[in-house]
Order: sequence, then structure tokens, then C-alpha cells
Amino acid sequence: MKDMQEAPFIKEVRDMTANMYRLGWDERNGGNISYIVPEEEVAKYADIQHPVRSIPLDFDAAYLAGKYFVVTGTGKYFKNVSEYPEVNLGVVRIAADGKSIDLIWGFADGGRPTSEFPSHLMSHIERLKIDPEHRVVMHTHPTNLIAMTFVHELDDRSFTRTLWQMITECLVVFPDGVGVLPWMLCGTTEIGEVTAEKMKEYRLVVWAQHGIFGTGKDLDEAFGLIETVEKAAEIYMKIAHLPRLQKIEDQNFVALAEAFHLDYRTDFLDI
Ligand code: 13P
Ligand code: ZN
Repeated sequence: MKDMQEAPFIKEVRDMTANMYRLGWDERNGGNISYIVPEEEVAKYADIQHPVRSIPLDFDAAYLAGKYFVVTGTGKYFKNVSEYPEVNLGVVRIAADGKSIDLIWGFADGGRPTSEFPSHLMSHIERLKIDPEHRVVMHTHPTNLIAMTFVHELDDRSFTRTLWQMITECLVVFPDGVGVLPWMLCGTTEIGEVTAEKMKEYRLVVWAQHGIFGTGKDLDEAFGLIETVEKAAEIYMKIAHLPRLQKIEDQNFVALAEAFHLDYRTDFLDI
């Protein structure tokens, strides 16, 4: 059997968590990632017939039964994932009845998946219904985005418009916009349910005063969405208090959408 630590999907998560840590978004145990991987890939690196242990879930994930995920552990630091993947990551399979998960590899110190696993799994379910190629849910605490949620109104339309207005390419990167939730208690099935509800419309969901969830068909796509939002939020925080002499007009968005053939939220424009 090959060494799981060297599996390409583990290597991708090791590299991504290190990158995100260096950006300052994942202080202490902040942030978590889950990534759907094919059974045949996992089977090259672990005995899938004999799980290490079973871990209960407190909601029904039957829609994902039999699917395999790489997932970061609760309480684990992104800073440490690359050096100690076997302790900080797990490879898990959703049990047939959707009420527990089988640990196939990892969490070597007795650990468990992230406390945000309900939000991840419920988001996976909704995104898979929309896009069969969907694979990744990524949660992180980007500094400027969190700052912006203290000073900007929190409805989806207005928050999205402001982000779009900060960088020309924002409309191109996330034409579907961002969903925004008010402050809520994290790590619960309740926040998972409302996050997943937003995921029916958006690939990005902001948790006010906390962070963001991004999704995609691979780690790069989820990360690229989040880094673009974070950069737009950074520009907003640099200019919010300054007089503005120019802006990107709604007519400019229309021109962009035509040039890039965008399927975008036209109801988010004022024209
Ligand atoms: P975990 O350590 O359980 O992944 O939680 C981190 C976090 O960001 C909570 O929202
Ligand atoms: Zn968090």
C-alpha cells in the first residue's frame, strides 16, 4: 500500500492549508476544508474495507452516503497540517445510513472532523445538486472581509454590489454574487442549514464577524473565489472613509457581462 501522506489529494490540502496560514486567515485552529475524493484514489493508499473507527453525525447525510472526504480536524491548526498530516487531517467515508462516518485514515491522536462539518456536508449536498463537478468546501477567516462585516450592511445584494464595485474582475470571478448571514452561533447544525440554503444560490457565503465559506470543483477554485472577495474587501476597507471621485458604474458591469458572456445577477444592478 502506498503512503497516504504522499497521495496527491493530501498533498494538495497540505499545500493549501500552508498557503492560507501564511495569508493570516487561519489563526490558531481557524478555518477548515473538506474535499470529495474518488474511492479508487483512496483505495490506493488505505484499506477501505476496515475503517479505523466510526464517528457519529448529528444530522442526516444520507445524500452523501459512500462518498469519501479529506477533512481537517477540529481544533487543529492549519499551521501544522503540512508537517503532521496524519494527526491534523482525516480521510472519512459517509456511512450508508448517513448517520455516522467511517474514519479510513488520519486523526491519529483520536481527533475528529471540524466542528463545522455539518455546514460543510450540508453545503456539499446543495452544491452537488446544482453542479455535479462540485468537490470542495473551504471555510476561513479573511481579515479584511471580517472587518467589512462590521461597517457594511449585510444583505446579499448590497454586499455583493460593493464587492463588485471594488475590482473590475469581481463580476467576472463571482457573477453569482455572495450570500451573507448575520452573526450566528458557529459549529451548529442550525448555521449549517442556513448556510446550505444560501448555497442554493451562491458559491460563497459570508458569516458576519466570523469568516466565509467558499466552494468549487477543486481547491484552487474555492480559494480563488475567496481570495478575490478578500482583496475586494481590502480595497473597500482602504477607501470606505475617503471621498470617491470615480466608481465602476452599473453600465460598466453590463459591458463586462457582454464581453465575458457572464450569467450574472442582473437583479443586483440598479438598471
Ligand atoms: P474547527 O477547529 O472545529 O475546524 O473550527 C474552526 C473554525 O473556524 C470554527 O468556525
Ligand atoms: Zn470559523
